[in-house]
Amino acid sequence: MPREEISSDWYKDIIIYEIPIKSFRDSNGDGIGDFPGLTGKLDYLKNLGVTALWLLPFTDSPLKDDGYDIRDYYNIYPSYGTMDDFLHFLEETHKRGMRVITELVLNHTSNTHPWFVSARSSRDSPFRDYYVWSDTPDRYKDTRVIFNDTEKSNWTWEPKTRQFYWHRFFHHQPDLNFENPQVQEELLKVVKFWFRLGVDGLRCDAVPYLYEREGTNCENLPETHLFMKRLRAEVDLEFPGRMLLAEANQTPQDVLPYFGNGDEFHMAYHFPLMPRLFIAIAQGDRRSIVDILEKTPPIPDSCQWAIFLRNHDELTLEMVSDLERDYLWTIYAQDPRMRLNIGIRRRLAPLMQNDRRKVDLMYSLLLTFPGTPILYYGDEIGMGDNVHLGDRNGVRTPMQWSFDRNGGFSRANPSDLFTPPIQNALYGYQVVNVENQIDFPTSPLNVLRQMIQIRQSSRLFGRGKMKLLTPKNTHVFAYLRESEEDVVLVLNNLSDRTESVVLDLSRFRGYVPVELFSGKRFPRILRAHFHFTISPYGYFWLRLLLPEEEAGRRRIRAARKTSPAAPPAFRELLEREAPG
Ligand code: GLC
Ligand code: CA
Repeated sequence: MPREEISSDWYKDIIIYEIPIKSFRDSNGDGIGDFPGLTGKLDYLKNLGVTALWLLPFTDSPLKDDGYDIRDYYNIYPSYGTMDDFLHFLEETHKRGMRVITELVLNHTSNTHPWFVSARSSRDSPFRDYYVWSDTPDRYKDTRVIFNDTEKSNWTWEPKTRQFYWHRFFHHQPDLNFENPQVQEELLKVVKFWFRLGVDGLRCDAVPYLYEREGTNCENLPETHLFMKRLRAEVDLEFPGRMLLAEANQTPQDVLPYFGNGDEFHMAYHFPLMPRLFIAIAQGDRRSIVDILEKTPPIPDSCQWAIFLRNHDELTLEMVSDLERDYLWTIYAQDPRMRLNIGIRRRLAPLMQNDRRKVDLMYSLLLTFPGTPILYYGDEIGMGDNVHLGDRNGVRTPMQWSFDRNGGFSRANPSDLFTPPIQNALYGYQVVNVENQIDFPTSPLNVLRQMIQIRQSSRLFGRGKMKLLTPKNTHVFAYLRESEEDVVLVLNNLSDRTESVVLDLSRFRGYVPVELFSGKRFPRILRAHFHFTISPYGYFWLRLLLPEEEAGRRRIRAARKTSPAAPPAFRELLEREAPG
């Protein structure tokens, strides 16, 4: 893909799909997913309609935090393949017009990284100052412990050299010392290495925690912003058009500075929105979403929110009030094993009690919201989770491709798999798998695929404004997505009953609403107030067209019908997948 031809803010128009290499597809039968396996499934992803792949960490690591504990920033974890396998994957992904986003873990390394091995061996090590040491565990007392189920303190005693070292996550992940200019240089080198290889974006892990300062909570410090601005400037200079995404699990006010004046991160996750989508659908009421949207400040023009329902971590509840957290725990994590740290370790379908209407409605919200949506592998087919597996591993089980052995994930002897696939009666791979869903137009996979197609047919969704409508009936969440040339009205019924709602559409008198899934025309808007009836958990996506526009679009459709090149059927593409 010649980069010059594409706008530099391409990240506003993409749909991201998140992938753990380990869990996606095993090509050589050793029970562990790998790059050749993933490359063989690119046509599946292309046809799902996603346009960027975000890969979880894949460089060498003892895998005590699934690769976020880095032992080597430059080499691929051997079971996942070779550097050539990675480069081949990158090339094949780009050939299909998709982007690749990889991880940049700045804040910490594994304790098996050679820097730390040396640093902990002697106070005179040239790498001692790569990490943060202290004689007492009393420094930075105001800092919270993030993995509070497993770690009691952010300090761990190192007996050989008789000092404590600082870590915001697991004790086997010592924090790097960003006060040290050498550390900064090393990380800049890492950034340039991956951009030079051709990745399109970096998801920067745990950015709020780079620096520590006494008397603060050691998050979002000004020094962190200075370093990130420097990193951004160097990227812009050498790699214009590449993207940086911030993982900052913070309030919208605290995330705002990570966009800077458009000179820091291009994107940042909207963490607080996510749990509120789950509150709204549980309460059958839009107000918690409206509240967080109203608290979300505008961001610089060149920037974009990244929005999501689920990911590889627990559904974090750090950004809600104590009351909201208790509510979400009561509704979604009755079984204590479903809880982890300050969150819930479950997948989307089980969270929605496997109610298709609710799953589809959540996607209706995600895919019509401003920001760039991120989908989590397996959630497109409604995969389940496994609370018996430790940590967050229950939501990282093998992708379910078919009802063959190991769900089509691997030819290995089942006991050799890195972790068992889901096998229960409701979510087991015998029932929930890609092959089962591909031929059914109304399967979760195909409905999501259709939503993606519609979203991608207009730049409006990634770029347009959002205007909330305020009907009295708060069970219904309705809004306009608008750009200069396009306007779509979205209605979501968050409740489990049929609802009727009256919208003030006086601005659109004379327009015709066209339902985007069926192409059906609704009656022309003639009066100021338009009345809708929506089934439980139903949704409408309606393009509002002026009569002339409508005629124009019909002509375009008629012209298209005569053009021959129909895209190959989804199944055909799946079967074309490289064997193995
Ligand atoms: C991020 C990752 C998480 C990891 C942590 C520590 O929050 O999403 O999976 O455990 O950073 O690296
Ligand atoms: Ca393998």
